[in-house]
Amino acid sequence: MKKIYFASFCLFCLIPYISAVSAYNDTLTRYWFWPLSAAANNPTPEKCVSNILQNSQFQRRYSVPCDMNKGDDCTGFTAISHSDKAIIISFRGSTLPEVVQEVADALEDAPISPFVGGGNVLKYFLDGFNDIWKAGMKDDFYTMKNANPGYELWITGHSLGAAMASLTATTIAHLKLFQIDKIKLVTFGQPRVGDKNYAAVVDSLLPYSYRVIHNRDMFAHVPPQWLKGYHHHQSEIWYPNDMKVGDSWIECDVDEGPGCSDGHTDLNIPDHLIYFQHLTESAAFDDCKGWNPYKH
Ligand SMILES: *[C@@H]1O[C@H](CO)[C@@H](O)[C@H](O)[C@H]1NC(C)=O
Repeated sequence: MKKIYFASFCLFCLIPYISAVSAYNDTLTRYWFWPLSAAANNPTPEKCVSNILQNSQFQRRYSVPCDMNKGDDCTGFTAISHSDKAIIISFRGSTLPEVVQEVADALEDAPISPFVGGGNVLKYFLDGFNDIWKAGMKDDFYTMKNANPGYELWITGHSLGAAMASLTATTIAHLKLFQIDKIKLVTFGQPRVGDKNYAAVVDSLLPYSYRVIHNRDMFAHVPPQWLKGYHHHQSEIWYPNDMKVGDSWIECDVDEGPGCSDGHTDLNIPDHLIYFQHLTESAAFDDCKGWNPYKH
């Protein structure tokens, strides 16, 4: 008798803890995070934002040169979803020629820089983040945070944008600029951002951090681990399929998961460009219409 009572008592008291630790949510990722990430490709992302979210407020778009020598742009935007009670920071990924160039560059001896919270990260990513953060994103972040107490903070990006999203979320968490259990980091086709120490910092700071990987996406495997000890952070969500509605995924709660995409060497670039059946770049032309069927 006593034993049964004890067991049911414990199950009851565990409920708030189980619901406090949010699990990966395919619906939220497919219809909110992914469209919001792709929206950064649109020259006027506010069109996408209003097509994805029910009650939204667009804040601003930012564009700065990532690297003076390469002539590419690091671009992102901020917005607020009042229906989801979330502040949104989204970063644009690389275009196809940039991806090809970056894969080539990643195999060379790219410079690294120390990260404020610990570890080393690719200088190219860190410079891009710092420049865009200083170009108004930081000020807007504070404005949105102060005007919307209790809201979550959603940070997302694809490709190069995924690397910047990782640095943004980790910087904000490290500097305690936002309540940590209200930060959601969800990235797509994220390259390795830094070394093992950086990965450990991310893992210790962010309880809700998911790297979504589409099947054989090559970009998720650069720079290679052997180069300078580049290392992913947790947790990988791997879709070994076409990411259709109802397709399954595998979650790997380790930094580098041989049970996830790391177990494969037959990689390709097309899987990097399409997530959840949408070509990233198409968000620039269709204004994300229909990307979130829950928006009506
Ligand atoms: C997943 O996210 C969607 C959209 O926000 C929400 O409606 C749904 O309840 C979530 N599912 C779970 C199991 O939390």
